[in-house]
Amino acid sequence: MDVKKNQDHEKNIKILLVENIHTIAKTRLEEEGFEVDLISYAPGEDELIAMLKKYQVLGIRSKTEITQKVIQNSQHLIAIGAFCIGTNQIQLQEAKNSGIPVFNAPHANTRSVAELVIAEMISLSRQLGDRNMKAHAGDWMKTAEGSKEVRGKVLGIVGYGHIGSQLSILAEAMGMKVIFYDVIKKLPLGNARAMRSIEELLENADFVSLHVPETPQTKNMIAEKELSLMKKGSYLINASRGTVVVIEDLVEGLKSKHLAGCAIDVFPHEPSSNKEKFESPLQGLSNVILTPHIGGSTEEAQYSIGIEVSESFRKFLKVGSTAGAVNFPNIDLIPQQGVKRIQNVHKNEPGVLGEINGIISKAGANIQGQFLSTDEKIGYLIMDVESENIENLVKDIEKSSRNIRTRVVF
Ligand code: NAI
Repeated sequence: MDVKKNQDHEKNIKILLVENIHTIAKTRLEEEGFEVDLISYAPGEDELIAMLKKYQVLGIRSKTEITQKVIQNSQHLIAIGAFCIGTNQIQLQEAKNSGIPVFNAPHANTRSVAELVIAEMISLSRQLGDRNMKAHAGDWMKTAEGSKEVRGKVLGIVGYGHIGSQLSILAEAMGMKVIFYDVIKKLPLGNARAMRSIEELLENADFVSLHVPETPQTKNMIAEKELSLMKKGSYLINASRGTVVVIEDLVEGLKSKHLAGCAIDVFPHEPSSNKEKFESPLQGLSNVILTPHIGGSTEEAQYSIGIEVSESFRKFLKVGSTAGAVNFPNIDLIPQQGVKRIQNVHKNEPGVLGEINGIISKAGANIQGQFLSTDEKIGYLIMDVESENIENLVKDIEKSSRNIRTRVVF
């Protein structure tokens, strides 16, 4: 990119948001002075390439595929935002090699999941799902038998991260006693108590709620043995990942009445769209709540995602910060007065920093601050410099064979 073009882009960064991203993102980015266009659908590969000729920043949700071809044919692109949790739809490595950080919003729906679990605990305790279906079918099922309050009951949280710890606070507010198990030592919130093992948690909880990530260690984490350790009449809730629970073993645990019910939001095999049929061995069992992976699907979560990713764009474009980027070395910075800030992405090869510093010193510029973060492939370098001619300096750095992308931030 030549320097004239580069300058023009900084003054007038154009952002394309596709797939009906919440309008709060457009509002926030326009407040920052960026030009933002919205479209409602997920463009295909060729259409996207054609569109990206006039945009430097792209926001997508889960359906737009950012392929190698899209990245290689979109030289103006400097940042991508996934306004969702997952980033599988993006060729992350290719984006990184082209100097493009990818941002997402992994925790914007934390509270939504925690609230769903609260609703499910009460629903299971009162058999709301079954009684609701019966009432719709004209059956009057008025009895207190098997119905309990959640107050005073023990909630066992497996995985005390963002969601697990939020749930802990909400559950205590309803008078529940909270115990948790995590592989990492975590500070217990409120009156929650850490268990030394998952077995200890399973043996003591009236409700077990899973909030672990999908890893080789959590695959089939809850199977026949673990279910048998749970208290008779207890409940299992899984709104984490479908691979964590062995469904066939859970079915047995329910049929034998060892468990009094379960609420499952995630499955080993989930339909890829709302048009595909959903099938599970859990269908038709009593006091079993099945939901279509909606733990984080709320309007508030979409709003929070819109804010979180647009804030990442702002910080990257105006400050140079890559904090939270999923494919990029992370640098978190604040703006500086009285200097020019240059953002540089380079191939991580021996001597590259010396080469860049040599260029700066030859140009007679003074380095006020330098921040470098690297991974095995690339280096991300922020330089605060005093220079009379920042455009020429950028031009000289761009001549290096190791340069991937260089840009003036402010
Ligand atoms: P997080 O990363 O903040 O917390 C996960 C916790 O699990 C961490 O504290 C970690 O140390 C712990 N952990 C990891 N391996 C463990 C093991 N083997 N045993 C015990 N603890 C272990 O993650 P966050 O944001 O709380 O999400 C938790 C899960 O919820 C993830 O699987 C995520 O995919 C899922 N999720 C589901 C949604 C839905 O719609 N149902 C929406 C959002 C997240």
